[in-house]
Amino acid sequence: MSYEVTIEPTGDVIEVEDGQTLLQAALRQGVWLPFACGHGTCGTCKVQVLEGFVDLGEASTFALMEVERDEGKVLACCCYPESDLVIEADIDVDPDFLGYPVQDYTATVIERNSLSPTILGVRLQLDEDIQFQAGQYINLDIPDVGTRAFSIANPPSQPNVIELHVRLVPDGKGTSWLHNDLSVGDEISLSGPYGQFFVRNSDNQDVIFVAGGSGLSSPESMILDLLEQGDRRQIYLFQGARNIPELYHREKFEQLAKDNENFHYIPALSAEDTLGEWTGFKGYVNDAVNQHFDGKCSGHKAYLCGPPPMIDSTITTLMQARLFERDIHMERFLTAADGSEESSRSALFKRI
Ligand code: FES
Repeated sequence: MSYEVTIEPTGDVIEVEDGQTLLQAALRQGVWLPFACGHGTCGTCKVQVLEGFVDLGEASTFALMEVERDEGKVLACCCYPESDLVIEADIDVDPDFLGYPVQDYTATVIERNSLSPTILGVRLQLDEDIQFQAGQYINLDIPDVGTRAFSIANPPSQPNVIELHVRLVPDGKGTSWLHNDLSVGDEISLSGPYGQFFVRNSDNQDVIFVAGGSGLSSPESMILDLLEQGDRRQIYLFQGARNIPELYHREKFEQLAKDNENFHYIPALSAEDTLGEWTGFKGYVNDAVNQHFDGKCSGHKAYLCGPPPMIDSTITTLMQARLFERDIHMERFLTAADGSEESSRSALFKRI
């Protein structure tokens, strides 16, 4: 049994199968309804039902108040149609967003390697090619744990392989399973692509990437993609880590900087007591950005990816250096402990 849902004002029509939420069906048919948490707690996916009936599912009373329920509002991420519907949604898609439909895949582990003392590199061979935009993420189905989101580190030019950087989160069930139990040859299910973290190619300003920890994965995919496309903008990567062993893929980016005159690599290490002969920048990565541009970043677009404290301090630095909010895009890496225990399908509430 399925129901037909017409989405106004665009006039898109989607089929929603039994057991599918409105949001799951929309993303799989290339209709990008806004969403964030993916499990009924933030309210970002609220839409208006104009005609028809729905089961509201697990919508929290904070995200969907009684008065809104009475007005016919629903949360697309957790509601199930009970008839054909007409809904009204606030779809405001960036013109640079390609909106590839979400699909389910079966993947086989073809490689595991330690990138740093805490970060595992995993390469997955997919059962069919995936189309994605550099910067997007997938949801891995981890047995007995649930879905966990990981950014894709390889560029879209390799559509049958997914490379992930997995930081071991203390007491994190999902990342512990990946580090300790996942072996080469194992199969794992995943879905994607998700997320709207991507380079705005219609904007010709030079590009600053700031990455911390395993937050390097999205910028790595975006940078490789830009260089493969022969993009002529100046591209800066600031990579923050505690110490040299945690500064993974350093040689790779140093080589890219030698091979591409428009790519610039600036690593920053913050654990000063362990740095010995390190001659690069000592301190936090946002301070490295500030020093490099002498406190003036106007004329750039910035893309930030990493843990929330790094993101917050870098936003402050960039805004003091005269970047506007519209010039800053970000992907925060949160752990499961940062949100509820429900499954996550979100760029904003990313679980690692
Ligand atoms: Fe639906 Fe958060 S409530 S995305």
